Amino acid sequence: MNGPSISSAVLPLLRCPRCAGVLEGDVALSCAACGVRYPLVDGMPWLLPAPDLALAEWRGRLHAMTNHLKRQAAHYRAALRPDVTRPATRNRLKLLAMACSDHARRLQALLAALETDAEPAAAATYAALAPVVASAQGLASYYPNVHRDWVWGDAENQAAVAAVRLALGSERPERLLVLGSGAGRLSYDLHALLRPALTVAVDINPLLMAVARRMYAAERVDLYEFPVAPRDLASHALLRTLTAPARAEPGLQLVFGDAKQPPFAPGSFDTVVTPWLVDVVDTDLESLAATVNSLLAPGGCWVSTGTLFFQQADPAQAYSSEEVQEIVAGAGFESPQMQASRQPYLASPASRHARVEEVVTFAVRKQREAELPLRPLLPWLADPRHPVPLLPEVADHALALRVRGYVASLVDGRRSLSDIAAKLVAERLLPAAEATGIVRDYLLRLHDEAQLRTGI
Ligand SMILES: C[S@@+](CC[C@H](N)C(=O)[O-])C[C@H]1O[C@@H](n2cnc3c(N)ncnc32)[C@H](O)[C@@H]1O
Repeated sequence: MNGPSISSAVLPLLRCPRCAGVLEGDVALSCAACGVRYPLVDGMPWLLPAPDLALAEWRGRLHAMTNHLKRQAAHYRAALRPDVTRPATRNRLKLLAMACSDHARRLQALLAALETDAEPAAAATYAALAPVVASAQGLASYYPNVHRDWVWGDAENQAAVAAVRLALGSERPERLLVLGSGAGRLSYDLHALLRPALTVAVDINPLLMAVARRMYAAERVDLYEFPVAPRDLASHALLRTLTAPARAEPGLQLVFGDAKQPPFAPGSFDTVVTPWLVDVVDTDLESLAATVNSLLAPGGCWVSTGTLFFQQADPAQAYSSEEVQEIVAGAGFESPQMQASRQPYLASPASRHARVEEVVTFAVRKQREAELPLRPLLPWLADPRHPVPLLPEVADHALALRVRGYVASLVDGRRSLSDIAAKLVAERLLPAAEATGIVRDYLLRLHDEAQLRTGI
């Protein structure tokens, strides 16, 4: 594999994702304005807005995922009871047990760059300080994409390139950004086909990026596929070899970044492609559209492709196509003309399950600047020795957190609801008449939240 490097073509475009300051250095980068240091992770610049927390969170997710796989392996082994005598059943359970253990080892090796020598804190501590990685974006969220991109998905990959190409018409990008590039195949194919001087592929997911990096360097990676509905016994776990058709052409650069705060100077690109991103990213489309606008040079082109299947928790942000058109035009672009085509999606040859999606693609030219919310640089962020001001809202919130933390600490596997309520009454935190009901509601919420956070 190539050594750690940042291409000289991309370096001048990079900016601090927190304060937009100029970045200095050619291996690890640091912001000349706010001093935050951004490491190289697995040889790729780690330009996420809270770099240390994000690294710790992804490391925590890697541990959760490998522990989960080890538990799964033990579960399959435990199912190999003496009364299970059918040879085919025993073979299937042995295959799954072996594959889960081996998969955990392979993921640990592939993502070794996330590990540090430091003893990790509990995942809950990182999450409590600030969950910077959206809980919906797990390490394995888009895992089937790695096999689609680099093993069996030629038809799907070609359809994705064709949709972008058709939308671009005669445009020939010179500086192309692919936001939410996943396992990297579309960026690779567009770079090979359109031959821009520079293609930057950006994603937040270290597993997908680690695969993309190795594919671009023409390495092979062996990873298991666990098809949704296996066609036969052997398809329950298949060790697949991922490979690219050839080493990537020069000028294709991978950068860890968050589409909400991308680490680039305004106007850095003439084309931005957002493949299957606008409806999954954890921000409102209005804000994403303004961000894409700011990344484009005047007259630049935004291509969006995907299903426009918004499932935002806030129903006001779960947009219809008509609203998408309005929002895009309102963010300084021409009004989009949408092209729709039905395409197979994640149709693994080893699975009886596959989806057919109506993929919507549009290309719009930037007509004017969009208004971006200002990100003021606070003095205590610029200078880590500056006192952090105790604002009244922060003091109230901190008190609330202490109370929540105290109640949570009373849950020790022995105390009952009444015991916990009695403690809070004794501490004069709650009146006796209300304590049991309030504690019940709060503990239910705690359990709900805990379940939401177990997603890996
Ligand atoms: C549905 S997948 C599509 C992947 C790829 N574009 C494709 O078409 O195969 C969505 C991708 O967006 C990435 N993503 C989600 N939120 C992101 C964010 N805030 N910043 C950057 N990438 C993000 C995910 O990691 C994932 O790779």
